[in-house]
Amino acid sequence: MLPLQSNENFTILIVDDDETIRMMLKTGLQLVGFHCHAAEGAQPALKVLDNRQVDIVVADIRMPDVNGMDLLRIIKGKYSADVIIMTGYVDDFNYEDIVQQGASDFIQKPVRIAEFVARIKRVLSERTAKADRLNALTDLKLNLDKFQRAMEGIVKAISMAVEIRDPYTAGHQERVAELACAAAREMGLAEDDVYGLRMASVIHDLGKITVPAGILAKPGRLSPLEYELIKNHVQAGYDIMKQIEFPWPLANIILQHHERLDGSGYPQGLFDGDIMMQARILAVADVFETIASHRPYRPALGLTRAIDELKHHSGTLYDAQVVAVFLKLVDQGRFPEFARQP
Ligand SMILES: [Fe+2]
Repeated sequence: MLPLQSNENFTILIVDDDETIRMMLKTGLQLVGFHCHAAEGAQPALKVLDNRQVDIVVADIRMPDVNGMDLLRIIKGKYSADVIIMTGYVDDFNYEDIVQQGASDFIQKPVRIAEFVARIKRVLSERTAKADRLNALTDLKLNLDKFQRAMEGIVKAISMAVEIRDPYTAGHQERVAELACAAAREMGLAEDDVYGLRMASVIHDLGKITVPAGILAKPGRLSPLEYELIKNHVQAGYDIMKQIEFPWPLANIILQHHERLDGSGYPQGLFDGDIMMQARILAVADVFETIASHRPYRPALGLTRAIDELKHHSGTLYDAQVVAVFLKLVDQGRFPEFARQP
């Protein structure tokens, strides 16, 4: 059992229309150090609850205005106090029912003070343990939120590093992430997978930091060697990201974003079922954004060309289901920044 705080840290409210019992219980609790209030019925009891923090309400069942069970329901719906039900008519009430309706304990009249205090202490012990568990959970959640923000910060910093070096693709990764996540959600991927896809998408071209800047910004055609150097950005991105153990397969999504269903992609030439779904979605979003936007070696080709590319290679290069979802979202005007282009 957890160590209990001192009795003076807790406040107990006794509710009974019988003044003798009320005063006896109040005095008994005060003698062992509890703060104690007494009320002759439900209405004055609720006034006490409205005005101060109460840990336990001990309520008689039979009272002239609102009975103890109704008071129990009101307290459980509006206050945080535990409730102990008390009655002299044991045969009329079922212990299980009373507990099911939210009471923390049940005590039979005539009440023996020593037993009464022991029950109060047991309920307080459970109450304290429950509060400690809740506090621990809240702390855990706060730490997880901090951890998540730190991870997002790392990913954002990497993304900025790539785009500072390759200003022609500035904004490309962020736009691809938006497109990929919209498609993933439409396809019903779990929110955690969508989140991982977003993280991977905003840094998917990270490996370009290993490609000479002159090649990245080169207008016009690339030589075969220059093209090979650019293609290597996928493996380079994977090699960097595999060092960090993220909760999502970021390194693998990045590694596979230029793979194509018919095996013509790179770096591994994977086929259809070997390519992970997040990478298939990222591939379509990447191609769509690349065609629709400006590139160093050409102006933006526009939405129509991007759509034609996806339709033409649906099921051969690109996942047909992903393409279908993409085209549906385009039709619905979900990517307005692309719809405005020629
Ligand atoms: Fe890429």
